[in-house]
Amino acid sequence: MKILVTGGAGYIGSHTLIELYAAGHTAIVVDNLYNSSKESLRRVAKIVGVDEIPFYELDIRDRAGLESVFAAHHFDCCIHFAGLKAVGESVEKPLEYYENNMNGTFVLLDVMRNHGCKNIIFSSSATVYGDPVEIPITENCPKGKCTNPYGQTKSMLEEVLKDVQKADPEWNVVLLRYFNPIGAHCSGTIGENPNGIPNNLMPYITQVAVGKRKELGVFGNDYDTPDGTGVRDYIHVVDLANAHVCALRAIAQKCGLGIYNIGTGHGYSVLDVVNAFVKVNGVEVPYVIKPRRPGDIATCYCNPAKAKAELGWEAKYGIEDMCRDSWNWQKNNPDGYQ
Ligand code: NAD
Ligand code: WQD
Repeated sequence: MKILVTGGAGYIGSHTLIELYAAGHTAIVVDNLYNSSKESLRRVAKIVGVDEIPFYELDIRDRAGLESVFAAHHFDCCIHFAGLKAVGESVEKPLEYYENNMNGTFVLLDVMRNHGCKNIIFSSSATVYGDPVEIPITENCPKGKCTNPYGQTKSMLEEVLKDVQKADPEWNVVLLRYFNPIGAHCSGTIGENPNGIPNNLMPYITQVAVGKRKELGVFGNDYDTPDGTGVRDYIHVVDLANAHVCALRAIAQKCGLGIYNIGTGHGYSVLDVVNAFVKVNGVEVPYVIKPRRPGDIATCYCNPAKAKAELGWEAKYGIEDMCRDSWNWQKNNPDGYQ
C-alpha cells in the first residue's frame, strides 16, 4: 500500500517507517519538523537501504500544501502521528495544543476525503481512559476525565473520527491507544529525542545514566502499588510500530471502526524500570523520591487481547529489551540527532 505518514520524522513515526518498508509498503512523510529533524529520516533511509525517504516539510494545517501532496500521490491510507504531545506544555499552552491537534486533523480528514482516501490509523493514547475504572484496561472500559488539554485532544479526536466513520461507512478508522512507548531500534541510530528536560520516565533515566542529569526524581512512593511508585504498561517502540502494519491489514479488509489497546499487558513500577535498566546495562541511575506529580495516576496497564484476536498483533519484547535498546540509542547519541 502507499501510505501517507504524518509526523513520520518523530519518535514513533520513524520507527514505523522501518516496519512499513519491511512489510513492502511505500511511505511518504509529511512533517513540519516542529519536534523532529530530517536526520531521523536520513537514518531510517540508511536502515531500510534506500537513498531517501520521500518527505514534504509541511504543516498539516496548510491546506493548500496538503492538497498538492494528495494531487501528486494516490494514497491508500494515512497513518496520522502528527501532533503535539507534551502533557505539561499542553496545560500551559492549551490553545496551541487544541489548534494544532484538532485543526490539523480536521484539515487532514477533509483533504483525504476530497481525494477519496478514506482509510486512517490514528495515534490515540491510554490517556483517554483517565483514571481507569478497571485494571487491566480493556477497550470496553469507559473513557475517563482527561486532566490536561493534550489528553482532551486525543479523546475528542477519537469521537470526531468515530462520527466521520459512522456518517460514511466507506471510511475505515483504526484508533490505536498506545500505552507507554519506550526503547529504540536495535541499530541504536534512531530513538526518542526530547527537547529540553524530559517529561517521560525513560528519557530521564537515560539522561541520568549518560551523565546529563544528576539524578532521577521518582514522583511519589506512596501510591497503592506493590512498591508505592506508579505502575505503567511500557511497550517497545518497535512492537508499537508493528501494530500499525497489522492495522493496515485490517484496513485492507475493510474493518470499519476498530479500537485497540496497544500495550504488553504487564505493569512495571518506576523502581522496576530503574532496577531493570541498572541490571541490564550495568550503569548507575541515582534517584531521589519526590512528591507526586499532579495529574498522575497509580496504575495503568492494559489487556491487549483484542489486538491479538483481531489484528494478529502482540508485543514480542520485554522490559529488559526496552531498557537495553533505550540505552543503546542514548549512549551512542548523547545529544540525540544533533
Ligand atoms: P513526536 O513529537 O516525536 O512526533 C510527532 C511528529 O509530528 C513530530 O515530528 C512533529 O514535528 C510532527 N508535527 C506536530 N504537529 C505537526 C503539524 N501540525 N504538521 C506536521 N507535523 C507536525 O511524538 P511521538 O512520540 O512520535 O508521537 C506520535 C503520535 O503518537 C502523537 O500523535 C502522540 O500524541 C501519540 N502518542 C505518543 C505517545 C508517547 O508516549 N510517545 C503515547 C501515546 C500517543
Ligand atoms: C511514567 C511513570 C511517573 C518521570 C505520559 C502521558 C501519556 C502518554 C505517555 C502520550 C509515572 C513516573 C516520570 C520522572 C517519574 N503520552 N516518573 N519521574 O505519565 O504514564 O504517560 O506518556 O499520549 O498521555 O501522560 O508517562 O513516562 O511521564 O511517567 O517518577 O522524571 O514514571 O510519575 O508513574 P505517563 P511518564
